Amino acid sequence: MTFAVRYYTKTGNTKRLAEAIAKELGVEALPISVPVTEKVDYLFLGNSYYAFSIDPEVRAFVSRLDSNLVGRVVNFGTAAMLNSTYKKVKAEADKIGVMMDDNEFHCKGEFKGVHKGRPNEEDLKAAAEFARRYK
Ligand SMILES: Cc1cc2nc3c(=O)[nH]c(=O)nc-3n(C[C@H](O)[C@H](O)[C@H](O)COP(=O)(O)O)c2cc1C
Repeated sequence: MTFAVRYYTKTGNTKRLAEAIAKELGVEALPISVPVTEKVDYLFLGNSYYAFSIDPEVRAFVSRLDSNLVGRVVNFGTAAMLNSTYKKVKAEADKIGVMMDDNEFHCKGEFKGVHKGRPNEEDLKAAAEFARRYK
């Protein structure tokens, strides 16, 4: 299996998850400013909720994906209150015919002192375990 990991972060939480996942998969965790230019079976995409939505940069990144290069997008991320961003990412992926994996990884993310320290070591371990299933 071949993998790529991309993430969008404002306060560093998603980057930490991305690094745990990427380490497990043996690839580098890169920001979404780096396009996916090589064929991969799975693109792990880290993103979060900001004011009840995903960031426009994440939408733009997904809309630029090449369905000939990306087998499936695996969503992962954190949020303070809301749950998964899956549906919002899938809405963008559907527009360009990129497949989303049915499974995703989500945990709480620290925001203004709430959920302090999340993602914590346990979350990072769980994220790595989640990624291991794809190998
Ligand atoms: C500007 C801003 C807006 C946010 N809005 C929401 C929100 O609407 N719902 C929610 O559940 N979390 C919200 N959060 C919390 C983030 O989703 C959470 O802190 C996440 O872990 C941030 O990931 P990051 O550090 O990778 O940017 C917000 C955070 C920021 C910084």
